[in-house]
Amino acid sequence: MTLVSILVMNGPNLSRLGRREPEIYGSLTLDDINRGLAGAFPEVSFEFFQSEYEGALLEKLFEVEDRGGCSGVVLNAGALTHYSIALRDAISAVTMPVVEVHLSNVHKREAFRRTSVISEVCAGVIGGFGADSYRLGVQALLGRLGG
Ligand code: DQA
Repeated sequence: MTLVSILVMNGPNLSRLGRREPEIYGSLTLDDINRGLAGAFPEVSFEFFQSEYEGALLEKLFEVEDRGGCSGVVLNAGALTHYSIALRDAISAVTMPVVEVHLSNVHKREAFRRTSVISEVCAGVIGGFGADSYRLGVQALLGRLGG
């Protein structure tokens, strides 16, 4: 079995899932989502990372890249999606494919959420399917690898 390694990275406020606006983001916690991924894809070696800080997300990307990289990254950048040029540049700077995911359908919400400064440098974008957005992100990466 080839070892597929995927970094699942979450940005600001996603630590609050389960308690944060459940009518928008659902009732699962981030741990529930991460456990669900590990259970659904036993063949994948996952690393899970969340931070409220922009720089910590950049550092994690570079740390993984410098370690030799991983098969891909599933990234919910939260609000950083809409304005972080630093995150966009970091995604451009690494060789790993990054899939942008969102729990909510950002196009159905406030106008400012319709802009993503990271989509252009991501392999693809998935949103609106709650926790399934993450699963679809993993599946998309596996598909790229021919799995
Ligand atoms: C989000 C959408 C963003 O607009 C928001 O800032 C988030 C979560 C989502 O998963 O739907 O924090 O990325």
